[in-house]
Amino acid sequence: MKIIRSSFVFGIFLLAAAFKPVTKNEETDWVKKGIDRAHSQLMAMAKSIEGLKSDTAVFPRSFSKEGKMLWVGKHDWTSGFYPGSLWYAYELTGDSTLGKYARKLTNQLKSIQNYRGTHDVGFMMYCSYGNAFRLKPQVSDEPVLVNAAKSLASRYSPVTKTIRSWDFGKWSYPVIIDNMMNLELLFWASRTTKNDSYKNMAIQHADATIKNHYRKDFSCYHVVSYDPTTGKIESKETHQGFSDSSAWARGQAWGLYGFTFCYRETHEHRYLDQARAIASFIMNNSATPADLIPYWDYNAPDIPNAPRDASAAAITAAALLELSKLVPDGKPYFMYSEKILKTLSSDAYLARQGTNNGFILMNSVGSFPEKSEVSSAINYADYYYLEGIKKYLEITKLKK
Ligand code: GLY
Repeated sequence: MKIIRSSFVFGIFLLAAAFKPVTKNEETDWVKKGIDRAHSQLMAMAKSIEGLKSDTAVFPRSFSKEGKMLWVGKHDWTSGFYPGSLWYAYELTGDSTLGKYARKLTNQLKSIQNYRGTHDVGFMMYCSYGNAFRLKPQVSDEPVLVNAAKSLASRYSPVTKTIRSWDFGKWSYPVIIDNMMNLELLFWASRTTKNDSYKNMAIQHADATIKNHYRKDFSCYHVVSYDPTTGKIESKETHQGFSDSSAWARGQAWGLYGFTFCYRETHEHRYLDQARAIASFIMNNSATPADLIPYWDYNAPDIPNAPRDASAAAITAAALLELSKLVPDGKPYFMYSEKILKTLSSDAYLARQGTNNGFILMNSVGSFPEKSEVSSAINYADYYYLEGIKKYLEITKLKK
C-alpha cells in the first residue's frame, strides 16, 4: 500500500511538474481510490498474462458476470486497450513495472500496422503505440504509427467520402459511428508527417458523418451503409443498439468524443457545434439515471431494469473533460464528467481488489442484441476511465 501511495504522488508529479502546491481534499479521495485500484488490478492482470499457455491470445478483452474470461489475439478490435490502460496507469503512478508490461504488450501489436482488414486499426494502434510514443518513445514507434495511419487511409473511398468500417456482414459499404474514434490517428499522422492527406480524409469522413449519421435530435444511427459505386445511402440501421431508430449509448459517446477532437484538431466550429449538441442530447436525456451511468441504449425497452453501460459513461467522461478545456463555458461539461468518474469509482462499478479477474470496472455492455458481454467487465471501459482520471487531474491540477 505504501508503494502504491508513493507511486501515486510520483505519478501526479510526472503528469504535471508545473502543478500548483499540494492540496489535501477529502472530496478527491475517489481519485486516489481509482488509481490505486487500477494499479493493483492491472498488475494482477499482467501476472495472469505471464502465466498464459498461449503466446498469441494474450490480450484480455472481457470478464462476464458468470465468470468467463475472454482472451483475444492481436487482430481483435479491442487488442490495444489493455496495453493502453497499462500506459495510463504507468503515467498515473510512475510505476516502471507497469511501463515495462505496457511496452511488452504494445510491441506484440507491431504487425497490426499493416492490417488493412478493419477501421479498428485506429483503436488498436493509437491506444497502444500512441500512448507509448507519447510517454516512452522508441525510434520505431513513429513509423509504426504512420504505417497504421496508411492502413486506415487505405480504407477511404473518394466516392462515399468515408472510411469503410467493416469487411463482414450484409452491408455493401458499412460505416459505423465508432469510426469517428479512428480519425484521431489520421490527425496525428498529418501533424507528424506534414502530409495533409490524412487530415483531409478525416475531415471528409467527419462531414459525411454529420450529414448521414445524425438525426434532428443529435442522436445517431449506428450503421450507415453506402453504395460504394454511387455513394448513395443504402440503409441506416443499428447493429448493437435496441432498434434502427434508437440511441445506442456507446455510439452516442463515440460520436461525442470524435467530434470533440475534430474541433481540437481543426478549430472548425461545425465540429464544436456538433459536439455540444451531442453533449446536450446525453446530458439532458430523461433516460439518463441520476448517477449518470446510462442504460445500454437510451431507448432500451425495459428501463429502469435495463443493464447499464459503464463503458459509455467512461467514454463520455473522457470526451466531456476534453470539451470542457476547449470552450470558455466548459464548467457544466467538467461537472458532469466529475460526477460520472465519481460514480465509476464507487463500489457499484469499481471492482474490489483481487476480484473481476484483473479488470478495473464492472457493468459494461458489449452487444446486447447478440447477448454478448452483457453486464461484463470490458477492457475499453477501463481504458477510458483511466483516460478520464488523467484528464481530470490535468484540469484540476490536483496533487495530494
Ligand atoms: N466498436 C465496437 C463497440 O463499441 O462495441
